[in-house]
Amino acid sequence: MNNITYRRARPSDTRPILNLINVYSAKGVMLPRPYAQVMDKIRDFVVAVDKDAPSAIKGIVAMHVVGEDLAEIRSLAVDEALQGKGIGKKLLEFCLNDAKELQLNRVFALTYQTQFFDKLGFHKVEKLTLPQKIWGDCVHCAKFSDCDEVAMLLNLGKS
Ligand SMILES: CC(C)(COP(=O)(O)OP(=O)(O)OC[C@H]1O[C@@H](n2cnc3c(N)ncnc32)[C@H](O)[C@@H]1OP(=O)(O)O)[C@@H](O)C(=O)NCCC(=O)NCCS
Repeated sequence: MNNITYRRARPSDTRPILNLINVYSAKGVMLPRPYAQVMDKIRDFVVAVDKDAPSAIKGIVAMHVVGEDLAEIRSLAVDEALQGKGIGKKLLEFCLNDAKELQLNRVFALTYQTQFFDKLGFHKVEKLTLPQKIWGDCVHCAKFSDCDEVAMLLNLGKS
């Protein structure tokens, strides 16, 4: 979409980021996040904004480094009215470029959107192959004991 641009999030984006997360966490497709956690991790976030209204956030994603060669994609979401126009793909590509610059070898996501990640070269892996420390957030999730999200992994340079 020509009227959308992509940039790193700023602290002042915290509330609109949270608003988008809340839309999808209310539907049970994303993990809810407290304001303080989004603010704390604001430098992990990339946002898609309207060029004509740069504070109007239309999409979000976060990439969190969890090990020397591994990062997790979190909180990927696009405004419902703008889905299917390539914004999610561009957000993810922004993160993958960052991952390459950081010389990370692997990027993963825990998701229900397996076909979206599949199109971007990710493949399904057993959750237990991922390091145990990534489950820190999961203890706050209502589905913790019965998680049905799928782990999708991308080996950078091999896809
Ligand atoms: C998942 C989500 C971020 C995708 O963003 P989007 O901007 O709609 O996706 P894009 O338009 O960039 O799609 C990229 C490709 O994936 C495909 N795709 C996207 N969502 C898909 C889906 N649910 N099923 C199958 N294919 C899908 C598109 O058709 C497109 O394929 P193409 O390149 O061959 O045309 C968006 O649907 C969303 O916000 N969903 C709700 C929140 C959510 O579930 N987030 C995931 C948390 S991990």
